[in-house]
Amino acid sequence: MCGIVGYIGSKQAYPILMKGLYRLEYRGYDSAGIALLDGDLKLYKTKGKVTDLEGFVSGKSIEGTIGIGHTRWATHGEPNNVNAHPHFSQSQNLAIIHNGIIENYASIKEELIKRGYKFSSDTDTEVLIHLIEDIKNNENVSLDEAVRIALNQVVGAYAIVIISKDEPNLLIAARKGSPLVVGIGDDDYYLASDAAPIAEYTQDVVYLNDEEIVSVRRGEEIKIRTVKNKNKTPYIQKLELNLTELEKGGFDHFMLKEINEQPSSILDSMRGRLNAKKGIVKLGGIIDYEQKMANAKRITIIACGTSWHAALVGEYLFEDLARTHVEVEYASEFRYRNPIINEDDIVIAISQSGETADTLAAIELAKSKGATIIGICNVVGSSIPRATHAGTYTHAGPEIGVASTKAFTAQVTILTLMALRIAKMKGTIETSRYFQLLNALESIPNKVKETLDVDDQIRTLARTFTYARNFLYLGRGYNFPVALEGALKLKEISYIHAEGYPAAEMKHGPIALIDSEMPVVVIATNKGTYEKVISNIQEVKARKGKIIAIVTKGDKDVKKLADYIIEVPETEEMLVPLLATIPLQLLSYHIAVMRDCNVDQPRNLAKSVTVE
Ligand code: M6R
Repeated sequence: MCGIVGYIGSKQAYPILMKGLYRLEYRGYDSAGIALLDGDLKLYKTKGKVTDLEGFVSGKSIEGTIGIGHTRWATHGEPNNVNAHPHFSQSQNLAIIHNGIIENYASIKEELIKRGYKFSSDTDTEVLIHLIEDIKNNENVSLDEAVRIALNQVVGAYAIVIISKDEPNLLIAARKGSPLVVGIGDDDYYLASDAAPIAEYTQDVVYLNDEEIVSVRRGEEIKIRTVKNKNKTPYIQKLELNLTELEKGGFDHFMLKEINEQPSSILDSMRGRLNAKKGIVKLGGIIDYEQKMANAKRITIIACGTSWHAALVGEYLFEDLARTHVEVEYASEFRYRNPIINEDDIVIAISQSGETADTLAAIELAKSKGATIIGICNVVGSSIPRATHAGTYTHAGPEIGVASTKAFTAQVTILTLMALRIAKMKGTIETSRYFQLLNALESIPNKVKETLDVDDQIRTLARTFTYARNFLYLGRGYNFPVALEGALKLKEISYIHAEGYPAAEMKHGPIALIDSEMPVVVIATNKGTYEKVISNIQEVKARKGKIIAIVTKGDKDVKKLADYIIEVPETEEMLVPLLATIPLQLLSYHIAVMRDCNVDQPRNLAKSVTVE
């Protein structure tokens, strides 16, 4: 949710911190701040984006070779100058940045107030830094010990970095439930929520585990111990992150770049995993668990948002191909129910960021009931891949636009490969059909490329509907999750109310909404329930709704009825989501741009939802 960054070394910290904050801004962008230590502990923070912070700091003293920075997505306290991070301790000798939520902050705050502490913000974070200082002073312990003791008292999630006026060569950081990476340079160290701010300085990184505290002291090796006071040996990994992937590469927005990357990102998801000629599907990360997956009577898929929509496609795929009973659950609901999960169960957790708090908690619950957890994640080294028994990376590359696009198609690609592999093992698919599907899947990247040609047509269409107040998205079978995903894309970036519905359910209620003002996007490709969907289109037409139809190239029947037609190439029914999603992504993108919305950083949202 929030982005945190820290630097200690021989270089000036300010430019490194600012660049880092820009790279992390996708995580939260309602306020930003930095603290720099140069004799004095200087703290600058403001409501708004990183660029506002830059303006605010302009002309002020930015000296210092040690510092911390933060970009916020508000949880406790509205986004304003005061609630922005960093937060000072009472004496102003310490400052903290924090990503996460301290759930028991209210009771700790009450106690501290009784003891004379004054609070200037509404945040849970300020409570934590006061508590740390209180422990440090009263128990007369070192800063890292005070942090450790304090973290034993708090309930919740955190990634924190603390800077101290009295210790100009030290940063203390810790994590639980929120990510934190340490970059190890030649004579300096970097700290960040993810590797993006670190990649241009060093390839050597240590991903902290939950409940680990790291002391980063200039000129010394980093020291890690747990909140339970157990020393840990840092595990140094090599980063594989291409810096150009973090730039817009000539596109106006990351979202547009990421939509256009899909021919290659889907190919990357399949690379080394699919050989259609030889009939090979090989997902190295799950090889040891394939048999268990094939034996499973049931698979439960947990996810949130767009990843949940991919999970729905996965349900249809596993049922069709592998004849496995599948349940798809919102992770946020699953975690607070009493789900019936046992040791034979396979739970697949899908997440782009690999950090979604609800999905992580759902994984822990399923694990505690003995299930085998398989992850499908995009961000390498993130928390979910480390919490699962096995898994597969989607390899879609960094997704920076808050609205998920290429991650969705990569997730669907992996689910297709998994379902095909399990089907082959179980013998639920005929060999000729298996080869047919592998060939069709292999041709998808080129077909996605072809689909992207509808861009101009969609831009024109977007002009017609820029000021629509509502949208309805309809689809059946494999196209139902596509309808849900199309509606989610539109609402999150253009703020137009949009609903996705199974087309046939429309007559059970939403049909009442249809009049000449209502654009209805129908995914009406030529397989499965095509004829039925045509009847649903008739129902909308009879009520004067405006039909925008996504059809298969060469379609004749829907063309006669629809007001606007967008064609996608012919493919197997189960692969249509990989194509039909593309025009819907473009439609929401162009409408949002025309409405002058901030496409990459839509209001109230953040890329990685590390709070529940
Ligand atoms: O990182 P995850 O895939 O776990 O994220 C899940 C959702 O928060 C995410 O898909 C969200 O719905 C996106 N903004 C959708 O575009």
